[in-house]
Amino acid sequence: MIRIATDAAGRDRCFAVSSRAMNPTTNIAVRAARKAGGIVMRYFNRIDTLTIAEKQRNDYVSEVDRAAEAAIIETIRRAYPNHAILAEESGAHAGNSYQWIIDPLDGTTNYLHGLPQFSISIALQHKDELISAAVYDPVRDEMFTASRGQGALLNDRRLRVSEQKSLKGALIGTGIPFRDQRHLDAYLAMLKAMIEDTAGIRRPGSAALDFAWVAAGRMDGFWELGLSAWDFAAGALIVTEAGGAVSDIRGGGRHLESGNVIAGGIRVQQEMVRRLAPHLPEAMRY
Ligand code: IPD
Ligand code: CA
Ligand code: CA
Repeated sequence: MIRIATDAAGRDRCFAVSSRAMNPTTNIAVRAARKAGGIVMRYFNRIDTLTIAEKQRNDYVSEVDRAAEAAIIETIRRAYPNHAILAEESGAHAGNSYQWIIDPLDGTTNYLHGLPQFSISIALQHKDELISAAVYDPVRDEMFTASRGQGALLNDRRLRVSEQKSLKGALIGTGIPFRDQRHLDAYLAMLKAMIEDTAGIRRPGSAALDFAWVAAGRMDGFWELGLSAWDFAAGALIVTEAGGAVSDIRGGGRHLESGNVIAGGIRVQQEMVRRLAPHLPEAMRY
């Protein structure tokens, strides 16, 4: 679509405008994610001045997480005052059957070390269905979005998972357990199986962004155990809207509840489910 507008010198100019109108709830997710991204980047140059608390072993929260979350909630509440909210730092806020699922800073460990790999993750769920998603990488200014049934975008560009057909030659992302280490041995057996069968493994450190990168075809698959819904609710919709598949660790649909998840292009994802199955910890077998 072409739009005519006046430039700074008063001349009429033609501008190419995206014809991909965004669904209104996705638009709000984008607005909120950008606001949070601004806050996160402002503090990134002075991490040493931040007040940091350890919520549990290896689980840190800073004033940045809290300020970013407050900005997101304010933006959502202004547009949708009756919607419910589940946010990592402030917990559940009651509302109607629409629920926003928010991680204001995903990759806090990276962030607090000055490692520029983190994101803001915002999803909207209605009953059991994810309907809108935004994952924002403020370092690269990359906004990944999805609206149910309307596909996924990176900024203005349509996203598609990779065409990789099998694990052979695939680049796979993962999250290495660093808090809860109950399933460490089983995880290491899974990692070994993936190392043996693939082109390589990456552990970037922001699960929300890992999903977005699978959607963008930058990684062919991803798995992690013990995530929370706010880490990947948005990423899961972005992957499926980019033509990929997301399941729980056994190939079923309980990933948001269990937090044990496998995502990827359909063929790679299915092969990962099969390849990881023999190594599942006892507690995850049924
Ligand atoms: C963490 C990141 C990390 C994943 C952890 C998450 P946080 O989120 O997504 O990649 O491995 O399991 O908890 O704590 O930085 O928001
Ligand atoms: Ca997180
Ligand atoms: Ca977080």
